[in-house]
Amino acid sequence: MLQERREQGAGPEQDATARLMHERVDGQPLSDAHIASIVRNWTVGEIGTIAAAVGIVAHWLAHHADLQAQLRAEPERHDEAIDEILRLHGPLVANRRISACPVQLGGRSITAGDRVVLHWTSANRDPRVFDAPGTFRWGRKPEDNLLYGAGIHVCPGAPLARMELRVALRALLAHAPQLAPLPGQPPHRAQYPAMGFDRLPLRLR
Ligand code: HEM
Repeated sequence: MLQERREQGAGPEQDATARLMHERVDGQPLSDAHIASIVRNWTVGEIGTIAAAVGIVAHWLAHHADLQAQLRAEPERHDEAIDEILRLHGPLVANRRISACPVQLGGRSITAGDRVVLHWTSANRDPRVFDAPGTFRWGRKPEDNLLYGAGIHVCPGAPLARMELRVALRALLAHAPQLAPLPGQPPHRAQYPAMGFDRLPLRLR
C-alpha cells in the first residue's frame, strides 16, 4: 500500500501527498479512499480541467474569427468570453452525490441514499435557463453559469482558474496572430470523463 510505504519512510517526506498521509481529521488519519479521492481531485479536478479548458478556448477562437478579433481589441472582455465559451463546452462534465434526504426534483422522486449525478454541461445548456443555449452570447447572468458548480462544494479554485485562463488567453492571442484551424487536420475530442481535446492541431502564425 502506497500509504504504508510512505509511512515507513519511502519516498520524499516533505511533499504535499506525504503531508496528506499524515493529516489527521478529528484525530483520525485519512483512509486510503479519502486520500485517493483528494489526490484525484488535485490532478483530474484541478489540473485536468485547466488543461482541457485551455484547449477548448483555443479551439473555439480558432473557429470563431469574429470573436477572436473582438477579444484582441477588447481585453476587458476576456473573462466573460472564457466563462461563456466554457459554458458551451464544459471542461468538467459531472460530479456525484448521495442524497441525504428524500426530495422531489424535476418531477422525479429521489429517496435518501440514492446516487445522483450532477451534469454540469447539461445544466449549462438548459433551454429553461438560457435563451439560445447553444449560442455564444454576451451579457448572460454569471450566476446561471454552473461551470464552477454551486452550493457548499462550489469550486474554491475558481478565482485561480479564472486567473490562469486569463493569462493563457492573453498569451495565446499575443503569440498566435493567425490562430485558425489547420485544413485537413481535424481535432480529436477527449473521451469522457476527460473533456476538451486530446489532439488539437491549430495554425498559430
Ligand atoms: C476550469 C477549471 C475548473 C473547473 C471547471 C472546476 C470546476 C469545479 C466544480 C464544478 C466543482 C464542484 C464539484 C462538486 O460540486 O462536487 C469543483 C470543486 C472543486 N474544485 Fe474546481 N474547477 C476548476 C479548477 C480548479 C482549480 C484550479 C482548483 C484548485 C487550485 C480547484 C479546486 C477544487 C476543489 C478543491 C473542489 C472541491 C470543493 C468541495 O468539494 O467542497 N478547481 N470544481
